[in-house]
Amino acid sequence: MKPGETNITITLSKVFKRFDEVSALEDINVVFEAGTLTTLLGPSGCGKTTLLRIVSGLETVSGGEILFGNENVTDLSATRRDVGMVFQSYALFPHMTVEQNVGYGLGVLKTPQEKIKEQVTVVLDMVNLAGYQARYPDELSGGQQQRVAVARALILEPKVLLFDEPLSNIDSKLRRSMREEIRHLQQSTGITSIYVTHDQSEALAVSDEVVVMKDGRILQKGPPRSLYHRPESAFVANFIGESNVVEALLVNGTDGNRVELGGIDLALPDSMHIPAKPGMVKLSLRPEVLHIEAKSDDKDSECLEGIVTESAYMGPIIEYSVKTTIGDLFTRGPAYETQHLKGEQVRVRIRPDEIIVIPACSE
Ligand SMILES: Nc1ncnc2c1ncn2[C@@H]1O[C@H](COP(=O)(O)OP(=O)(O)OP(=O)(O)O)[C@@H](O)[C@H]1O
Ligand SMILES: [Mg+2]
Repeated sequence: MKPGETNITITLSKVFKRFDEVSALEDINVVFEAGTLTTLLGPSGCGKTTLLRIVSGLETVSGGEILFGNENVTDLSATRRDVGMVFQSYALFPHMTVEQNVGYGLGVLKTPQEKIKEQVTVVLDMVNLAGYQARYPDELSGGQQQRVAVARALILEPKVLLFDEPLSNIDSKLRRSMREEIRHLQQSTGITSIYVTHDQSEALAVSDEVVVMKDGRILQKGPPRSLYHRPESAFVANFIGESNVVEALLVNGTDGNRVELGGIDLALPDSMHIPAKPGMVKLSLRPEVLHIEAKSDDKDSECLEGIVTESAYMGPIIEYSVKTTIGDLFTRGPAYETQHLKGEQVRVRIRPDEIIVIPACSE
């Protein structure tokens, strides 16, 4: 299992899936690049598990094609696709030891016992479970059980690794180190991987690319940074990180682009990507782009007047909701600054260089 050996690209073209009346996936066209880890992110019921099962062969398509490299695998069964799967539920055999669980797949392939023992030792080492061969699943923590499940998938040297919410039964502290381990394993083996999660910070942390799905469709695919800084729709802006989506008038004047909102006028930098024509547009204002300041009588064209409606001390930061003429805005400030209290009159400074203009015609 060396990097490069198992690298394959996965291509889905025009894939759709119906369960009787329910349309679970529609017009899926996507390439999962060789050797990368891509996460599927989206609300419950948007089709993430269905997409994963279709790649694995556990589910058939209603139409379209799936290629592993140049090979059309659309009609191949799961066992003939060389895919390893790791589920949320671990799905270990409770009456078998770690060694028997991990070696199970090789046993089915009639691999000699000595060879199985050897390979089990190698993969247990890879998932940091050296020496755990004789334990039973109920003698392991949730994190350790999930490592066994990963080892069981790895031992078959799959071309593709699929993870369906592998960490959602694990407590949040351990989840962080487990996700790093999975990322490290994926990078050292180079196995093309698809990873489903509900947790956007997990998605941003482990992925080469993130796919955002909604109602059975792919809305946007890209590296974490581009999804965060260039969301192509209000939905993606809200789903990846937090966002205040507001309406504004985009004006293309002699001195460049400006946006007008709530009586203020912000000049946008020349270098800014503006994917919309002048007129009414939607802007995404990330919390970190808004800064709360004490009320002042000096007019400032970059500040909106407002009143604090929520003020919550969270340790390193303070979270605020501020009612302004353009609606309620959510923002944060560092806790070392004086806390503005509920009911206080403040002003909200908007940093123009960090404004995101959402493309026209998006959801
Ligand atoms: N076997 C099935 N029969 C009928 N409908 C199904 C079946 N499997 C999934 N669906 C439907 O297809 C849609 C997509 O389901 P899917 O399980 O892929 O969602 P998901 O994104 O994984 O959701 P979650 O985040 O809750 O796991 C849902 O409307 C679901 O009810
Ligand atoms: Mg699911």
